[in-house]
Amino acid sequence: MPPCHPLDVAKQTLAEKLPALSVEQRQAEVRLLVEAVFQLPYSALLTKSADFFTTEAFQPAWQQLHTLLEDRTIHRTPLQYLLKQAWFLGRPFFVSPAVLIPRPETELLVEAALGLITPSAKAEAPFRWADVGTGSGCLAISLALALQEHYPSVQFTGIATDISTEALQVAQHNADELKVASQAIAFLLADVLTPLDTSEKPPVGLDLILSNPPYISPILAPTLAPEVLKHEPAGALFSGDCGFEVVRKLIIQASIALKPDGFLLIEVGSGMAKTVADWAVTQASFTVLSVWSDYAGHERFLTLQRKG
Ligand SMILES: C[S@@+](CC[C@H](N)C(=O)[O-])C[C@H]1O[C@@H](n2cnc3c(N)ncnc32)[C@H](O)[C@@H]1O
Repeated sequence: MPPCHPLDVAKQTLAEKLPALSVEQRQAEVRLLVEAVFQLPYSALLTKSADFFTTEAFQPAWQQLHTLLEDRTIHRTPLQYLLKQAWFLGRPFFVSPAVLIPRPETELLVEAALGLITPSAKAEAPFRWADVGTGSGCLAISLALALQEHYPSVQFTGIATDISTEALQVAQHNADELKVASQAIAFLLADVLTPLDTSEKPPVGLDLILSNPPYISPILAPTLAPEVLKHEPAGALFSGDCGFEVVRKLIIQASIALKPDGFLLIEVGSGMAKTVADWAVTQASFTVLSVWSDYAGHERFLTLQRKG
């Protein structure tokens, strides 16, 4: 049998076993998998012939490639969990099944938060913010690093909460790996903004809160891809009350934790934005500054402001 090139093996396996992947997704997965296993950049992989990979030295890599392809295609493990890495705003984040895999549209929350940190807000140091349901820490860490880089002379203090101890450990690990200044983010085990350790005080006087909370109704579980349903943490996906439970708690607790005129930025599911906006206005003291869309054009984000 002629020697096989690992790129061809990966391409063929994914095409046969995961035909629903788009060509672009398949190409990206093949590249990342083979680069990780053979520890060569894609450009180098492309220029090597199949013979190059037949040496004894590559036997463990071939074994690993077959195991990963099996996990990906039979068990439907997401690629990011296999590689233990997901990219968010141009940075690599360690991910484990204890945390949601960061999604590209969530990056919009960081951009929106940075847009709200106006020159007057910056002058009023220290500027205090919180990320509720931090998971891998992607939002909190990206925001802290952007603030560190762009406003080195302004004091910002962040709090990143999660109800999962394992998620907080992942977030802390990412903060260390990505060199966030140790005083820039305090990680807090909390139900939204209420610390689970009752000796800790809930944060108050915040200028800004951002959150991508769990918002999927458990009724929708059968509609999710196996990669999501079987592998991502249920606590990061589902929220009772048709997906609204954590969002509702967030609005109530944020209306207490924020300063007057402070901002609350929330990501929600498709079709939820109007209900959340109505609720924030009628049941809590918020004004809706904007409802904005994800890359697919669905209204998925709200910018709320606590009334002064
Ligand atoms: C959708 S994930 C978002 C993770 C990360 N911020 C991101 O955007 O990739 C929601 C996160 O909220 C956490 N969570 C769920 N319920 C919570 C609660 N009541 N209080 C605090 N965190 C909660 C989950 O553990 C999970 O890490």
